[in-house]
Amino acid sequence: MSTKISKVFYGTLIHSLSLKSLEILQNTLLGIDCFGKIAFIEKDVLEEKILNEIIVQWKFPEEEVIRLSKWQFLMPGFIDTHTHAPQYPNAGTGMDLPLLDWLKRYTFPLERSYSSLSFAKKMYPTVVSRLLRNGTTTAVYFATTHLESSKYLAKLVKQNGQRGFVGKVNMDCNSPKDYVETLDDSVKSTEEFINYVLNLEEEKGESKLVYPIITPRFAITCTSQLMSSIGSLAKKYDIPIQSHLSENLDEIEFISELFPNLPDYTTVYDHHGLLNGKTIMAHGIHLSSKERKLIKERDVGISHCPNSNFAICSGLCNVRQLLNEGIKVGLGTDLSAGYSKSILNAVRNASIASRVIFMSHSSNDNDKSFPHLTLPELTYLATMGGAELVNLDKKIGNFLIGKEFDALLVDPNCNKSPLDIFDDFDDFERIFEKFMFLGDERNLKSIYVKGKKVSGTDFEEVNLHDKELLENLGELNGEICSVCKK
Ligand code: GUN
Ligand code: FE
Repeated sequence: MSTKISKVFYGTLIHSLSLKSLEILQNTLLGIDCFGKIAFIEKDVLEEKILNEIIVQWKFPEEEVIRLSKWQFLMPGFIDTHTHAPQYPNAGTGMDLPLLDWLKRYTFPLERSYSSLSFAKKMYPTVVSRLLRNGTTTAVYFATTHLESSKYLAKLVKQNGQRGFVGKVNMDCNSPKDYVETLDDSVKSTEEFINYVLNLEEEKGESKLVYPIITPRFAITCTSQLMSSIGSLAKKYDIPIQSHLSENLDEIEFISELFPNLPDYTTVYDHHGLLNGKTIMAHGIHLSSKERKLIKERDVGISHCPNSNFAICSGLCNVRQLLNEGIKVGLGTDLSAGYSKSILNAVRNASIASRVIFMSHSSNDNDKSFPHLTLPELTYLATMGGAELVNLDKKIGNFLIGKEFDALLVDPNCNKSPLDIFDDFDDFERIFEKFMFLGDERNLKSIYVKGKKVSGTDFEEVNLHDKELLENLGELNGEICSVCKK
């Protein structure tokens, strides 16, 4: 028992063991080692005496045990498998147009502004800290086409202690004149970006928290040559890929005009070497059974972004069908087509989308083959499902010994809590469900990534004022810190 223990919690843990199985462990002791990994979990530790013995066994001072109060619990951090950091300033606006018009009118003009690094420095800190504060311990980000701003985003994610995948966007056709790259520049700057992010981690000899991800925006804005070239980069560096697939009917129609010799949208990506077990495709709403078969064969994950699908009227994604066919599914916010920054909101909208599908099917007859998504399933999608999409399911997503501790300390009874507890009536199962459907960032007391507290209502943001950290954030060049305004 030589492992050095850095933190011990005593209380209730709630996590997913599988899609169908949500485990609630009360009176449990969980210890984290100095590398941020879960070193031990002791269940049903009822007696103080036993608790003391365990503490002696692990040589941990009892007074430092973090004892959760009555209705508090620990759950795994949320994984946002698809979001656009540069679009956050638009969140909550511009929901009056379908995808292709929405991109032209609202999104491209905003993203273009990130050609200025100082604009990126003003905008990006807000979205990263907001996502973290909402319990997103891992985020899969699209940046923009701009190399320097994208590097800055990757550095910022790391500096905030969030786990993340950051992609410099590729687009070399069917884009506005002032927001498009040449093929050559796009490939070159992508390779430079990859090397930058990989070295960002190695500088300090730490284990990885931030990874590069190959990010063709979608097949409409990428030439065949570009898709093939960056597919080769993904292979060369063994890194993941993300894009959009089958989100909107006009988009699909345009794809069939651009690639008349390929049978469908999914095959376009496959043809260019972009589909494998490390690929995340956002949406996948209107896929044919042939396309779903290919997705399953290639082991591609689908990021379900229901808020976005409702907000810009893209359609209803049948997650039950994807799951039944053995396709990996996670949740995404898809800021800012989706207006919410929170995976809790994605959970709620995924629930509603599945109920709408259920109602539209069961109105004809008594067909019960599309039941709505259950609480254990929704919890799984928000945590373990996301971990599978980013290929970190052996590392994060639930509480197993040896996994890294990415977790939320939830306080359903916090000051000004948005949910009410009825002590003699509620139990943990009900309170967990209430939190998933009614809770918000006020309930997130502490947010941990790899064992380290990085956000939450009791997190001292003063950390961000730390001079060394600010210096590490890099080249602030006398610019104003978004936190201290100095
Ligand atoms: N398809 C291509 N680009 C985008 C984007 O920025 N958001 C969404 N929702 N779909 C896209
Ligand atoms: Fe998107």
